[in-house]
Amino acid sequence: MAREAFELDFARFDFFNGAVALSKPMGFSDLENEQKALSELRTRHLGKKSALASAKKLIGGVAPDDRPSFARLVQTTEGAIRQSIDEVEKALKEHIDAARTARESIDVTIPGRRPRPGHLHPITLMRQRIEDIFVSLGYIVEDDREIETDFYNFDALNIPEGHPARDPQDTFYTTEGFALRSQTSTVQIHAMQRRGAPVRMIAPGRVFRRDTPDPTHNPMFYQVEGLCVDRGITMAHLKGTLAEFVHRLFGPDTRTRFRPSYFPFTEPSAEVDYSCFNCGGTGCRICKQSGWIELGGSGMVHPNVLRAANVDPEKFTGFAFGLGIDRTCARIYQLDDIRLLFENDVRFLEQFRSFQHSGIRSLEFT
Ligand code: DAH
Repeated sequence: MAREAFELDFARFDFFNGAVALSKPMGFSDLENEQKALSELRTRHLGKKSALASAKKLIGGVAPDDRPSFARLVQTTEGAIRQSIDEVEKALKEHIDAARTARESIDVTIPGRRPRPGHLHPITLMRQRIEDIFVSLGYIVEDDREIETDFYNFDALNIPEGHPARDPQDTFYTTEGFALRSQTSTVQIHAMQRRGAPVRMIAPGRVFRRDTPDPTHNPMFYQVEGLCVDRGITMAHLKGTLAEFVHRLFGPDTRTRFRPSYFPFTEPSAEVDYSCFNCGGTGCRICKQSGWIELGGSGMVHPNVLRAANVDPEKFTGFAFGLGIDRTCARIYQLDDIRLLFENDVRFLEQFRSFQHSGIRSLEFT
């Protein structure tokens, strides 16, 4: 009887004997529960309150003739039960060990999860590159306001009210006479007011214009202004400085070209071009077959501008220039739409971790 009860109870462990195949793989905690159940089963069938224990107590009361055979039966039953439980316990332990190993083992052949490191925006890379060059030439970097009064954006730059030069620089106005600056030239005035003369500074930053966005225009874009004011500064200093700048940016073979132009805040004024970094000046797709790429505007600071910033034009002269950062960026990367630089689409930006892919050796930096 004890044996039958045991076998009924024990049947659920059959699969650990290999008697029955495991229908579904058991997890680690399932196996632990099985182990607990088995230990309870052991107490139930071999413990003090088990049927077997009661049978043992009966041995003394059995008729002497039957006693040895009864005792043997009890003994073999106990032995068999114990052996069965021991076997299953052993098998269970092996399963648990295997499950634990499987859980804790690391498959070193699985490809690692790659971190996705971020990087600076191409405009930032370009700005930092420009800053590095001018800082090494003794310039300070000014970071000034984006909201301006008419005085700084126009009047002090020799663009009085009603001057036609205000038109193409139409910007966004707020209340109380403030407007978003339409050019970084405003920083010329702030820098001279703050520092007096002599001064050598560049001012990179955002500017705003009421332009309809198209592949070559965006209502917000980046410029870097340059200003050098000292005693005896001439156009030769301007040409030498910008020539050195493009040498460092695009390589020592880069040439510059100055074309007469007009800006209200400089006299004389010039547009500056540099020989194409791709073809070296012979003409290609990037420079639209002209061999030259426009760098920006420049000139000798107009005496009225010096005066507006309380610098004496009898004592000091200076040169100034304004370059487009995003424009240069778009040229280097051959972007056919400048707006791509402002849409912050990671799929686009990820391609420009550095200038290493631009093919311009002197731009290589990390
Ligand atoms: N501010 C001019 C513009 O936005 C660029 C410029 C031209 C800046 C000549 C200068 C300069 O400092 O001398 O178009």
